[in-house]
Amino acid sequence: MVFQAGERLHLGAEAEVWSGTWFGRPAVRKERRQRAWRHPDLDHRLGHRRMMSEARLLVRMHRAGLAVPALYDLDPESGVMIMQHMAGRPLIEVLRDPKMSSEFLVTALVSTGAAIRNVHRLAITHGDLSTNNVLIDENGHASLIDFGLAAVDYEVERFGIDLHVVDEILGASHPDIEGAIEELLRGYTAEEERLGPPAEQTGGSVPTASEVLQRLENVRTRVRYHG
Ligand SMILES: Nc1ncnc2c1ncn2[C@@H]1O[C@H](COP(=O)(O)OP(=O)(O)O)[C@@H](O)[C@H]1O
Ligand SMILES: [Mg+2]
Repeated sequence: MVFQAGERLHLGAEAEVWSGTWFGRPAVRKERRQRAWRHPDLDHRLGHRRMMSEARLLVRMHRAGLAVPALYDLDPESGVMIMQHMAGRPLIEVLRDPKMSSEFLVTALVSTGAAIRNVHRLAITHGDLSTNNVLIDENGHASLIDFGLAAVDYEVERFGIDLHVVDEILGASHPDIEGAIEELLRGYTAEEERLGPPAEQTGGSVPTASEVLQRLENVRTRVRYHG
């Protein structure tokens, strides 16, 4: 693969991520890591499946014009994926940066909500919406990354859970930013108003933004009463 490595961006339990170039274009290389505590065969199968699924969904979303990385190259056997480098830094850093104006934060949160709704409108749930998996560029525009746990779904539950995960993280890791989840949800709803009802997908119809928000309320209540 014609990837010229620059610097290592991330070394996690699941993956190692490098920035660099691919045929001269800004790219990142994500390499699946062996997990010592799992049986190598099982590890290989799980990792292989997750990477194939992530790649397939990225292609689908990118073709639909969403703010997600384009897939450049894939070698599932060796667990390597090369994709477009998205500008910006993780939402978690932006929210912790005292130099960011509150206007910029609002733009970033509204844009994050819109990006999530656009993914949902394709019947795709993200499955791991932490503030590390949202990148914010210099204009406050959000792109989403890390679709290794994403899935196609038509039941409202997983959509509601996506929003609940962001809700919990904004409350727990960024409690000083008041009204953060409200701004994000405002962006989520506004995107639906801008685009109209979601189009029918091959597997059925997608829950509307207001159905997902209702489910979020329902999930919050369940968590409150049952922990
Ligand atoms: N396409 C990309 N463009 C820019 N940065 C990226 C991209 N993909 C990953 N990164 C950086 O690498 C980090 C880890 O990548 P991620 O796909 O989230 O792996 P993991 O599954 O280990 O969380 C991200 O939080 C981000 O900082
Ligand atoms: Mg991640």
